[in-house]
Amino acid sequence: MTSLVKGYALAGTMLATVYCGLPAMAKGRPEAFASKADAAAASLEVRMTDEERLNMVRSTFSRTDRTAKPLPADVISSASYTAPVTRLGIPALRETDGPLGVSWVSGSRKDGATAFPSSLALGASWDPGLAYQIGARMALEARAKGFNVLLTGGVNLVREPRGGRNFEYLSEDPLLTGIVGGQGIRAVQDSHMISTIKHFAFNAQETGRHVYNALISDNAAHDSDLLAFRLAMDIGKPGAMMCAYNRVNGPQACGSSALLTDILKTEWRYPGFVMSDWSAVRGISDLGAGLDRQSAEELDARPYFAEDLLKATRTDQQLHRRLRDGARRVLRSMLDAGIFDHPAIVQPVDPQAGKELAEKAALGSIVLLKNEGALPLLKNARRIAVIGGFANDGVLSGGGSSQVQPVEGPAINMPGNGAKHRIMFHRSSPLDAIRAKLGKDAVLQYDQGFYPAAAADMASRADVAIIFATQWMTEGLDAADLSLPQGQDAVIAAVAKANPNTIVVLETGGPVLMPWKDQVRAIMEAWYSGIGGGPAIADVLFGDADPAGRLPVTFPASEDDLPRPRLDDSNDPERDLASQSQTIAGFDVNYNIEGSDVGYRWFARKGVKPLFPFGHGLSYTHFSYSDFAVHDGPYVQVTFTIRNDGDRAGSDVPQVYVRNRAGTAGLRLVAWDKVALEKGASKLVSLTIDPKVLGDWKSKNTGWVVPAGNYEFFLGSSSGDPRNIFKTKISSKKER
Ligand code: BGC
Repeated sequence: MTSLVKGYALAGTMLATVYCGLPAMAKGRPEAFASKADAAAASLEVRMTDEERLNMVRSTFSRTDRTAKPLPADVISSASYTAPVTRLGIPALRETDGPLGVSWVSGSRKDGATAFPSSLALGASWDPGLAYQIGARMALEARAKGFNVLLTGGVNLVREPRGGRNFEYLSEDPLLTGIVGGQGIRAVQDSHMISTIKHFAFNAQETGRHVYNALISDNAAHDSDLLAFRLAMDIGKPGAMMCAYNRVNGPQACGSSALLTDILKTEWRYPGFVMSDWSAVRGISDLGAGLDRQSAEELDARPYFAEDLLKATRTDQQLHRRLRDGARRVLRSMLDAGIFDHPAIVQPVDPQAGKELAEKAALGSIVLLKNEGALPLLKNARRIAVIGGFANDGVLSGGGSSQVQPVEGPAINMPGNGAKHRIMFHRSSPLDAIRAKLGKDAVLQYDQGFYPAAAADMASRADVAIIFATQWMTEGLDAADLSLPQGQDAVIAAVAKANPNTIVVLETGGPVLMPWKDQVRAIMEAWYSGIGGGPAIADVLFGDADPAGRLPVTFPASEDDLPRPRLDDSNDPERDLASQSQTIAGFDVNYNIEGSDVGYRWFARKGVKPLFPFGHGLSYTHFSYSDFAVHDGPYVQVTFTIRNDGDRAGSDVPQVYVRNRAGTAGLRLVAWDKVALEKGASKLVSLTIDPKVLGDWKSKNTGWVVPAGNYEFFLGSSSGDPRNIFKTKISSKKER
């Protein structure tokens, strides 16, 4: 497994086998999940009273500034708390949010933590090893604050490019999401913490998130979002699954026996517990449907998993069995993660190592979208104009439960324009980092970019203009459209007109439209880059680092090209604002339009060229691929050689796609490698393709089936780069 985790940067040719999803799969099921904890949990549960069992399946909202209820003195302000069962030596459960670091709970705790780049940035790194390192660091910091459950592992697919939480998700592709997400979860579980995986499932938009009904067929579901969950689950073995707010094919996700009992617990034999999202429970019957725990019960209409439930279990044997099963599952996850034997110890943590890792992650994720010779910048550049994006103060971050406050406190903290959450910039100024790269003779000027005329005036007097453009996204609110907000398009257009040497640096939560694309000389996507963002951006601008990221999502040229040109029901102002309301009318969001063809697969199906394709990203050096071959067998293997034949060290992400399977056209990423190579170095890569990714879901009895026939694969630098085509016969395979 470590071969997947490490990047290779040695000169000369080397051989490494990189598995894409195989390790989890190869161990088989359900043995992969079996652990000593099963027996221990069962014997502990038998000794419990029903009141003690009930304690395990409920939790208290633990924001100390928000709850009226008196909380035990040792509660740390956070997302939720479950009391210990002292009689049996069962420790308390203390939960904090991820996935971008230990969250600050909307300001109720200001003790600081490492603010990592957004999950989408991590997806852009295509680097499972980096995901593991971040997961481990997050867990270390969380444990040092006394937590033993990390609410991380957001693996919903980016189905809706305007989705407010896309920055908390990894990509639009199930394989990329599953592997990178799975490694982050695995790191947390390896650190004696329970990790969640969330939000199960189809929580792809915030508009009406408590009430919309995601419509999707069983087959399409298994070949898209559910596949991402399944892959991440097999790799990461999360102790808890968090069900989503929305409805799926009718029932609420947290009350859906189809999702929780039939698919998760029966088909996939998931041994962990299902916890609700915060205020997602609608009644006692959710327990019967497969929900094991009501989270932060004060936030729901009632604490359903409370005395009423206890009363009901006295006459309803099936419900009583579910209560026992729920308690046992929680205990099992606690024992499996080692929470009994390795209690979290509150202690100080040196923030430096976290900061260094955050900067490394930012470097690994920056995507160079366009470069007409403008980059890297020369360090002896004379007159530089930096414009916009509060680049003098810091880098933007996303809002909501995942918001982290770094130890230094925010550079900017302002109201979020009608949104519940606040807009925060981390203290990592790109302007300062650019200044540090320049010689003493350089003249560096900064303009806020509020007025096109002022920005253009300053740009006209510079040799190069670097303009920072931001798109703030937050939990609870979708973007109304994909344009850069606050008139930034006009500022960029004016600057580009005034200075032909204009470079745009984007700090966005996801894809945006770029009407000025042809007027600027370079475009760089830095995402929400975390506490190391400023120096990382400057390193890539000046070529001290090669841009190592590749797009984890398609950037469309127009919203008309999307499966849903308009966000579902965003034209209803009530629903638009009421992402927190459970009482507004429900509405359908029809994911059967694209089915499993999410993102680039939709564009391929429609034959539409996007602005920038999934997988795209430029380097400062040049890589060539050769000897691409696909070998059939029990598992399909691909082999090729990648060579850095440019004149400097750099990183690349060679990607293998299938575009025709046994006569059926359709594009799918099936394998990739993240490679760092010195100038002149090459690497022989061997990858194994997971049959679930190559096949189609048939039914719960059959599982995924790879159809026999002629296949067409290609190896390229993006989904839109069908070079190195390889045609071969593939035999049928099955996988469950
Ligand atoms: C979010 C979850 C989060 C929870 C606890 C909810 O609003 O959807 O992702 O873990 O709050 O903060």
